Amino acid sequence: MEFDHVLDVRSSVRRYTDEPVSEEDIEKIVTAGEKVPVGHFDFKNYAIAAITNKKVLDLLTEENQALSGRGNPIYGAPLLLLIMNTPEAREDSIKFNAGIMAENMHLKAVDLGLGSICIYSFIRTLNKVEGYGKYFQALHLPEGLKPAMAVAVGHTPMPQRARRFTPRIPAFRIGEE
Ligand SMILES: Cc1cc2nc3c(=O)[nH]c(=O)nc-3n(C[C@H](O)[C@H](O)[C@H](O)COP(=O)(O)O)c2cc1C
Repeated sequence: MEFDHVLDVRSSVRRYTDEPVSEEDIEKIVTAGEKVPVGHFDFKNYAIAAITNKKVLDLLTEENQALSGRGNPIYGAPLLLLIMNTPEAREDSIKFNAGIMAENMHLKAVDLGLGSICIYSFIRTLNKVEGYGKYFQALHLPEGLKPAMAVAVGHTPMPQRARRFTPRIPAFRIGEE
């Protein structure tokens, strides 16, 4: 897809079908998450987990619902990309680096014709729980990793349509006098 078209049709998708995302697409999305700039070249302190295990995704939803009283935080998406950092990651840059990784994967999913959404809410809730929650312990990842940000991905019944762009963020242009 042409880059500007990806930006035009990108939106946060909150409806998914059960159709699994192909292994080929999962790999492309993860690779996009790795092709990022990381402040101070701190690559070694980040990791990405591509989770399709339904038991783990259901556990995440149940745990989150019990604590927050809210519905499915990943909207039933069949694929969750969890971005994590180690305790050694530079504290002041974690959210920037994780956010950039998330956006790369979000845009790649759009490029592949998939629905996607960046998600922080369940991480805010479950990171307060011991071990960052049972769902996280069930991943059996190397010791020390902590969830920072997530992206949900899946096939969607929502059509990819360019939306009318409404500027919401003030932007200033300062050139020569
Ligand atoms: C850092 C970040 C965290 C977000 N967390 C959530 C979330 O937890 N749940 C959710 O439904 N949307 C989440 N979103 C999506 C935003 O709500 C969405 O991008 C915004 O409403 C604009 O809509 P659009 O993406 O369709 O343009 C998040 C987006 C960002 C950038």
